[in-house]
Amino acid sequence: MAKYFMEMNGPLLGEVEISGSKNAVLPIMAAAILTDEKCEILEVPELRDVDVMCQLLRSVGAEVKCDYEIGSLEIIIKEILAEEAPLELVKKMRASNLLMGPLLAKTGRFKIALPGGCAIGARPIDLHLKGLHALGANIKISENYIEAQAERLVGAKIYLDFPSVGATENIMMAASLAEGVTILENAAEEPEIVDLANFLNKMGAKVKGAGTDTIKIEGVKSLHGAKHGVIPDRIETGTFMVAAAITRGDVLLKNVVSDHVKPIIAKLIECGVEVIDSDEGLRVRATNNELIAADIKTLPYPGFPTDMQSQFMALLATVNGPSVIIETVFENRYMHIEELNRMGAQIKIEGRSAVVSGGQKLHGAQVIATDLRAGAALVLAGLMAEGTTEIAEIYHIERGYADFVGKLTKLGANIRRVKA
Ligand code: EPZ
Repeated sequence: MAKYFMEMNGPLLGEVEISGSKNAVLPIMAAAILTDEKCEILEVPELRDVDVMCQLLRSVGAEVKCDYEIGSLEIIIKEILAEEAPLELVKKMRASNLLMGPLLAKTGRFKIALPGGCAIGARPIDLHLKGLHALGANIKISENYIEAQAERLVGAKIYLDFPSVGATENIMMAASLAEGVTILENAAEEPEIVDLANFLNKMGAKVKGAGTDTIKIEGVKSLHGAKHGVIPDRIETGTFMVAAAITRGDVLLKNVVSDHVKPIIAKLIECGVEVIDSDEGLRVRATNNELIAADIKTLPYPGFPTDMQSQFMALLATVNGPSVIIETVFENRYMHIEELNRMGAQIKIEGRSAVVSGGQKLHGAQVIATDLRAGAALVLAGLMAEGTTEIAEIYHIERGYADFVGKLTKLGANIRRVKA
């Protein structure tokens, strides 16, 4: 298995172009199932997760042409040949569950392997199933599979106990072809939900209110093909902002939507980092700044994103002063603490909180990426660690960061990807 080898190499300096959003492109790819006309998606990031979603779509009968050179995907699904997402693919990626809503709406059934829990908690899909059941699906859960059937889908009023991103997306996609109106309350408000709604409306759907906690979907008879460029990845944006801060660098991020990263901008400014938002892009400068600690509490959007918690923890380990991080979205998203402590951080878990001592000088170590964002945090720590940092299980990281090594190297980082 390949590894990253890193040495500290001073402040990151220069420009970086942010890629299209992983968490926007995956549901939009799944939504292509809702029509038998061609869909063209642009600004597609070259990621493992996108490859897996392409395989999943092919496994249900889609013709998928992917050209990462120009970042475009063409998906044509003339006929759904199978309503089943194969186990080996579902195990690779939780987002496979985003096929449930579209398959149910288009074919009246789906069969999907129970999603593997992953390093960040059990991650059930009860809210997805409750919503699809409310629309008329009969759902059967066996040992390893979930199967659903529906003669027809009928609009309903649905309240989500938690503003689940995936459940909001699945219900929105299924309700687009249901008879009548669906009102989804306590819906997730993430920018990726808005991007999916924009794509669905380009296909002829009638989705209103995406981006707020109440979404109204008026079902239509059928949807047609559409062309859509996905939004920039706000978590990749946040990760490079923290990379500039942790190395006390000066980096201009291009192709960003600063509105989508407001909590990250606010927190970095609270830590003493300069963030300048201009037409050129988002400039993050910490070249001669004495950085100070700030507390973090993760919340559903528009709160501080859980997907930035581990990266920010790496930064807080190096700034002066103690800080407290509270992870409220996932019940077990502290796997990176042990690895960061091996690099000299001083972080301890107290209940749902992590207490970071701060002011530590990090040193290189052999560490393991336990999940996508934990791995990103280890790379950020490696940028500031004395000696060599060796990161294993980097396939987690390459699921969600396009050309991560190339982009960091261009900014001056000393990082090498070595095949075992
Ligand atoms: C999406 O996952 C993202 N993935 C995650 O990003 C992100 O961390 C998460 O939203 C929260 O923002 C994609 O968009 C592909 P949820 P999702 O349903 O939809 C509980 C990354 O790093 N829950 O909002 O799976 C669940 O256990 C990934 O890019 C239920 O209890 O997240 C969790 O505690 C990691 N029942 C919380 O809600 C359900 O039916 C949030 O989950 C569904 C979720």
